[in-house]
Amino acid sequence: VVVKIARWRPWVTDLPNVVILTGAGVSAESGLKTFRDSGGLWENFRIEDVATPEAFMTNPDLVYHFYNMRRKQLQEAAVQPNAAHYALAELETQLGDKFILITQNVDDLHERAGSERVIHMHGQLRSARCLSSGKAIPWDDDFSAADRCSCCAPQSPLRPDIVWFGEMPMQMDEIYYKLSQADLFISVGTSGQVYPAAGFVQIANEFGADTVELNLEPGDQHTSFNQSIHGHASKVVPEFVAALLQSWKDK
Ligand code: APR
Repeated sequence: VVVKIARWRPWVTDLPNVVILTGAGVSAESGLKTFRDSGGLWENFRIEDVATPEAFMTNPDLVYHFYNMRRKQLQEAAVQPNAAHYALAELETQLGDKFILITQNVDDLHERAGSERVIHMHGQLRSARCLSSGKAIPWDDDFSAADRCSCCAPQSPLRPDIVWFGEMPMQMDEIYYKLSQADLFISVGTSGQVYPAAGFVQIANEFGADTVELNLEPGDQHTSFNQSIHGHASKVVPEFVAALLQSWKDK
């Protein structure tokens, strides 16, 4: 793995600001299905049946089932963070507040690998959201239309704390700010097909960051990256992080 950090901003004297974007590919080797690979989630479920506000209004039980099934899978003993999750947690340890990890994933594998500076722009499986207040509460069991929040009177029904198609992703102001400050933008394990995440590399480029794609195969945005390295995340991410840390030591 050759780390070609082509365009450091001239005034970056100490460590650079690094923004990471991850997608389902970073969790694939942990045993969680991606969406668009063969055997992916969208082969067995239609987005319009389980991942839109309209789906939840017309058939909430199917939507609850879809997310209860995915949460149960996440809680299986075999599903553990892989070397890519740990390498990103190590990079955060080295960079501190110069590091942010934006994930499209709703699993908790980044946190279980030790990452703390994580933005879940599409929400999280292990929390539920009150339909009235919008408050998110930790939730680890199956839930159904019968469940009620504990934050309102009278108590309100709950929805999965997931951002559905047609809804605004979370913390977009913070995300755009971080992209504007990035010296290095690294995308890991995403097909680059769903916006706004698919457009982050363009923004990072416009602000002069160096941009790298680490993915099993070229994603839809691969021509926008300065560097595109293909391979399994559990291999290419630790290699890239090690080469990056070494390049900073040699600077
Ligand atoms: N290592 C690295 N990359 C991998 C691996 C692996 N082991 N396995 C698969 N990939 C890559 C695939 O080549 C693909 O480009 O991960 C990507 C997964 O793409 P998608 O299945 O489209 O998942 P993602 O990009 O995260 O989807 C984005 O779409 O459906 C919505 O909200 C959902 O957050 C999701 C968003």
